[in-house]
Amino acid sequence: MEGIFQSGALKGCVAFITGGGSGINLEIGRALGSLGASIGICGRNADRLEGASNVLRAKGADVFTAVADVRDFDAVQSAMDGCRDALGPVTFLVCGAAGNFLSPAESMSANGFKTVIDIDLMGAFNAARAGFEQLKETRGSILFISGGQSWVPFAYQAHVGAAKAGIDNLMANLALEWGPYGIRSNSIVPGPIEGTEGMQRMGGDEQRDIWEAMTPLGRMGRAQEVAAMAAFLASPAASFVSGARIPVDGGQNLTGSHV
Ligand code: HXC
Repeated sequence: MEGIFQSGALKGCVAFITGGGSGINLEIGRALGSLGASIGICGRNADRLEGASNVLRAKGADVFTAVADVRDFDAVQSAMDGCRDALGPVTFLVCGAAGNFLSPAESMSANGFKTVIDIDLMGAFNAARAGFEQLKETRGSILFISGGQSWVPFAYQAHVGAAKAGIDNLMANLALEWGPYGIRSNSIVPGPIEGTEGMQRMGGDEQRDIWEAMTPLGRMGRAQEVAAMAAFLASPAASFVSGARIPVDGGQNLTGSHV
């Protein structure tokens, strides 16, 4: 991100990223950290968090990590309290933790559906709710990571589509209710992003040609391209942006459902 944004552009930003140990979320941490932000991350896997914290520290960032499953509100609250003690009150909360698998709706178990709703949607609410007092104090902002499935249905993604649509609605509701506290709330809708666990779970490289054909720019995206939008939203340049659902997808949302 250096060379595109001014060096130190996010000095003073304290970002807390759920699911920050890997994928797009880690890339967001790297981008923010390289611009001077301090980074708190939580996730379920301690080894993954340790690897991520090394990556972030190599970017010069102050880092806090906590093992927490976003389905457990108390664990998320305790992680965010610990982050505050270590780095100061959060100014930018990224609700990024997600779970996914492909499954036809007709054979998906109720618990399979619920598991993804719990991780994606309940997890996003838990993080936003746990972060509210800190965000109110800093007049900070929230970024939700949505998905194209919330707009148009993708086959075998009934659970994820329902969760992501819920996330977008939650994003809008919090923009409305928490705007008077100075808190901004937005979501990014990533398109097909190469090299991520999410894409692997959506069919991986075998599906690459299909995704490229569905994307007007004719290629898959890169995690850095999502992180660049996150950096913009974390910065004062976005000070009047709230309630926005922002695709970073090469135009893929214009081309319809994925069957
Ligand atoms: C059908 C499945 C299944 C599968 C799990 N289940 N995998 N059903 N097909 N492939 C069902 C199980 O049978 C069980 O229901 C229920 O889901 C819970 O499964 P567990 O394994 O006990 O859950 P858990 O250990 O909590 O793991 C959650 C998970 C897992 C979502 C299932 O995959 C996970 O931890 N994922 C995290 C990483 C991840 O998914 N990253 C990608 C996110 S990217 P029963 O009835 O048997 O009890 C993303 C972007 C999408 O979301 C957008 C791309 C464009």
